[in-house]
Amino acid sequence: MRLSDETLLDIMARFQAEMQKGLGKDTNPTASVKMLPTFVRAIPDGSENGEFLSLDLGGSKFRVLKVQVSEEGKRNVQMESQFYPTPNEIIRGNGTELFEYVADCLADFMRTKELMQKKLPLGLTFSFPCKQTKLEEGVLLSWTKKFKARGVQGTDVVSSLTNAMRKHKQDLDVDILALVNDTVGTMMTCAYDDPYCEVGVIIGTGTNACYMEDMSNIELVEGDEGRMCINTEWGAFGDDGALEDIRTEFDRELDLGSLNPGKQLFEKMISGLYLGELVRLILLKMAKAGLLFGGEKSSALHIKGKIETRHVAAMEKYKEGLANTREILTDLGLEASEADCVAVQHVCTVVSFRSANLCAAALAAILTRLRENKKLVRLRTTVGMDGTLYKIHPQYPKRLHKVVRKLVPNCDVRFLLSESGSTKGAAMVTAVASRVQAQRKQIDKVLALFRLTREQLVGVRDKMRVELEYGLKRDTHPLATVKMLPTYVCGMPDGTEKGKFLALDLGGTNFRVLLVKIRSGRRSVRMYNKIFAIPLEIMQGTGEEVNAGQGVPRSEVPACHPIQCRPGMTAALSLQLFDHIVQCIADFLDYMGLKGAQLPLGFTFSFPCRQASIDKGTLIEWTKGFKATDCEGEDVVDMLREAIKRRNEFDLDIVAVVNDTVGTMMTCGYEDRNCEVGLIAGTGSNMCYMEEMRNIELVEGDEGKMCINTEWGGFGDNGCLDDIRTQYDKEVDEGSLNPGKQRYEKMTSGMYLGEIVRQILIDLTKQGLLFRGQISERLRTRGIFETKFLSQIESDRLALLQVRRILQQLGLDSTCEDSIVVKEVCGAVSRRAAELYGAGLAAIVEKRREDQGFEHLKITVGVDGTLYKLHPHFSRILQETVKELAPRCDVTFMLSEDGSGKGAALITAVAKRLQQARRENVKREQKLRSIQPQDEEALIAREPCRKLFMLKDSN
Ligand code: BG6
Ligand code: BG6
Ligand code: GLC
Ligand code: GLC
Repeated sequence: MRLSDETLLDIMARFQAEMQKGLGKDTNPTASVKMLPTFVRAIPDGSENGEFLSLDLGGSKFRVLKVQVSEEGKRNVQMESQFYPTPNEIIRGNGTELFEYVADCLADFMRTKELMQKKLPLGLTFSFPCKQTKLEEGVLLSWTKKFKARGVQGTDVVSSLTNAMRKHKQDLDVDILALVNDTVGTMMTCAYDDPYCEVGVIIGTGTNACYMEDMSNIELVEGDEGRMCINTEWGAFGDDGALEDIRTEFDRELDLGSLNPGKQLFEKMISGLYLGELVRLILLKMAKAGLLFGGEKSSALHIKGKIETRHVAAMEKYKEGLANTREILTDLGLEASEADCVAVQHVCTVVSFRSANLCAAALAAILTRLRENKKLVRLRTTVGMDGTLYKIHPQYPKRLHKVVRKLVPNCDVRFLLSESGSTKGAAMVTAVASRVQAQRKQIDKVLALFRLTREQLVGVRDKMRVELEYGLKRDTHPLATVKMLPTYVCGMPDGTEKGKFLALDLGGTNFRVLLVKIRSGRRSVRMYNKIFAIPLEIMQGTGEEVNAGQGVPRSEVPACHPIQCRPGMTAALSLQLFDHIVQCIADFLDYMGLKGAQLPLGFTFSFPCRQASIDKGTLIEWTKGFKATDCEGEDVVDMLREAIKRRNEFDLDIVAVVNDTVGTMMTCGYEDRNCEVGLIAGTGSNMCYMEEMRNIELVEGDEGKMCINTEWGGFGDNGCLDDIRTQYDKEVDEGSLNPGKQRYEKMTSGMYLGEIVRQILIDLTKQGLLFRGQISERLRTRGIFETKFLSQIESDRLALLQVRRILQQLGLDSTCEDSIVVKEVCGAVSRRAAELYGAGLAAIVEKRREDQGFEHLKITVGVDGTLYKLHPHFSRILQETVKELAPRCDVTFMLSEDGSGKGAALITAVAKRLQQARRENVKREQKLRSIQPQDEEALIAREPCRKLFMLKDSN
């Protein structure tokens, strides 16, 4: 049983290899040292407080406790406890009865301590190997030590105990929040007093150790950040035969007579439950060989368990040891000589010394691992210690410490005895768990505001339907919040369009100028485009008068490029915007080598315009991020024409002004003739669709269809969505450029989702649930969460660490827990947006189905916008919702790859052709009826279908 230093170093190396094996995902199933993740991630930080119940089951004594952890900072813990017996018939009987017994004891405790009325969280110290997937759950892998209750192995002990407590429904109202091993409890107890403590060791009835491992090394748990406590269950070291060379005949004999033969072989060489028995077996052999007690036999020496650890401890006591030995041997009915007593004492020393040596070797392996994890040359650390053998054996601690220091000379180890057992630590874990639970509840409460029930979504769909009808009717139209604007686009392109066109695309994330070449027949379109920046000062009209100067390609300047001022220049702000646009066109023409070219132009203008024809559009009001003054109520085509005139450099024929939804529908309609809806889920939110002329009371004529730009972003502006609007939506609205307007858009589109998220994060931080309660300057900054960041954060492929990195890039210094919450917030906000879109769209397709009197409708929706394109879940949720809310419509979603510029060009192509045909017609009529040329416009106006922009197949 004497182990040389060399052997101990060898055992240490073997244990290091075992730990590695237990931590590996592939190797863990066959590892004997199980290295169980405990889901305890941090040592106490002193902020824990509250009142907790605690159970301590599995050591030599079973205790129930009440632990009061005091106010922050004071580190004051008060405990009241009571021991209860654990008779063999209970711990080796039926599992259900075992848990019922435990629940009975708990109920008794609460009664005697008058705690019945209180709802207290409970931490369970359960000193057996449990597989955990979270803190409040643990599946017993196997009983060890003295326990062997039936039907418990392989089941979750937390739910078993919870079930048992149901019997005491009236008296017991407790929530088991944490299950911890006694080693973990010990480590936490000691760490409360010494923050260096990162290892817990038990040398008691059984033996075991836990320590803080780097998450990146724990393959069984997701995540790489920080550390987690690992319960090594080192008692099972050697169960695979790894220690056969050092096991003796006594170890084998002891094992055969144990409750769990072949198991816990390391523990059986070390811990209190077995030490006395090892001594007995050795003495028996020596006596049989006539080496002790004058060859006399004692029947007591034959009885299993007759020598206990406390005897061994007493016999080894300094000074009294020899006298104690004599007394103990006499009690066993043995006549011991002086020499016998010395020999027996020596046997005890050999056995307990081996125990300390083996523990030291395994502990040295853990310390080395910690040192290597931290990449330190020297490690300073504290080991929390507990267990009766360690506590009552007079020489044990000294020996253990000495050997550890010899085996790992590069570690400065402090051994700290846990005076109060493992419960204090378990209470710390429970305190943290209960804080997390309370915080969780608060967070869930906030997120619940964004969860819409099916009924609510059906409600949104039906209200949208009502608003659509309102907007179409002449009487109700003026008051309608969903404006339902006729676009004078009456059909889809048919493939005969051709020519070279300019297009402008203003109002989405990017402002583009495009050259579109359409070749007829082959449906082939070539596009050249350039993105230009529109400085914030121009967009929002807040800047000083500027030099419209050079159009600025976006690649060369940030979006809010500071514009040079030219003192003394006066120009209305609207002029600035349109002059800037013309400047960009000039730059583009230059760039394309088309200087001076006179091309027809289609203008995608993504704001609500009241149109009187395809080339007339009065801006009703700005939305999204635009607020340039002197534009509302003006015709955008006129404003553009005038700006071109002012520049006096080139001439352009502005043929059509179209909303982006319409451009998108056209772009997609060019490929798929079934496309009768255009949807934008981008900076803003809007939808257009082909409506029956007979339903559009604002435009004369009942034949065919016309595209209606719904401007559904204004849905809810009359308060009809107030039941689902949250305080955060209201805050976003109040901080926007157009308070009270575009409420549906503000709940759904990219420009606002990030703002909603930001408002929620500010609130959660105020409640102390995030960012350690500190609202950073960054978090106060409007617009930091662009749609692309939301999309990145929500990507499933991202590990938590990457989410954290994105947040850090945004200037938000978050912990791992923060990152989880931020991701959840983003998820709740974007899900609601997608569902609301789905409900709105369901209203439209259902209307189309009913209007056409179809049982089933097959329809294609052309979609564009960064939210739809970039977000990992938005499109799926939107589609699912439409399916759910419009089950009789078979909706195909077609992504517009080319943007709405292409659609605008197609519209321009047809409009141009019709313009010419119309002029020729009028001329012909003029000739026939000799009408004066000045009446030409009047003539066109008289005939509604002429005023319309009719595409080929519209009639
Ligand atoms: C106690 C702890 O102090 O020590 C228990 O509170 C632990 O959780 C026990 O199991 C271990 O020692 P023993 O000797 O009682 O098994
Ligand atoms: C683009 C279209 O693809 O998408 C624009 O060409 C449209 O017309 C835009 O406004 C909408 O998306 P976002 O996200 O850029 O606002
Ligand atoms: C046994 C148990 C272990 C416990 C130890 C000390 O080894 O399996 O979980 O920590 O005893 O009580
Ligand atoms: C805003 C505009 C609307 C546009 C939408 C998408 O809602 O008012 O015209 O279609 O944004 O860009």
